[in-house]
Amino acid sequence: MTKKRILFVCLGNICRSPAAEGIMKSIISKNNMDDQISVDSAGTIDYHIGEKPDPRMRKAAQKRGYTLDHLCRQFDPDEDFEEFDYIVTMDDENFFNILQMDEEGKYTDKVMKMANFSSDPSFTEVPDPYYSRNEGFNNVLGILEDTCNNLFEKVKDDIESENKQQN
Ligand code: 4NP
Repeated sequence: MTKKRILFVCLGNICRSPAAEGIMKSIISKNNMDDQISVDSAGTIDYHIGEKPDPRMRKAAQKRGYTLDHLCRQFDPDEDFEEFDYIVTMDDENFFNILQMDEEGKYTDKVMKMANFSSDPSFTEVPDPYYSRNEGFNNVLGILEDTCNNLFEKVKDDIESENKQQN
């Protein structure tokens, strides 16, 4: 059976990517696919390593029924490019930072933008809520619920087609 691994990446790994991780884990559990899809998140900077998600994000997520229990870690190019199948970045800066770490261009196909899974075709980036007021966090959660649902459908389709090929 194929198992797929998703890594969400943002700048600090305390707002957007741990929220995406919590939302995606909830979708996977509701669909009874915990043994087929795993999720983690990481940041491109090291400022907050070991910290829980930002309290403003935890509070906004709790209101929507998500408990965020990730502890911040930095993206590790030596491990993460091999370990994960989908490396999903929140904004263009994260996207290009990750691509730059892939010095030989071996993993380009794994690196993708979260915006590409939006139901709104004009959408380009998940905005950084760190310097925003509380409404910014709730807005990001709405975006992440939509994009996580669409990404989940893609991963599920990929698993189904790989399982078919193997049988
Ligand atoms: P995130 O938000 O990338 O969504 O986790 C940020 C968190 C921390 C910082 C910037 C953005 N910071 O500069 O510390």
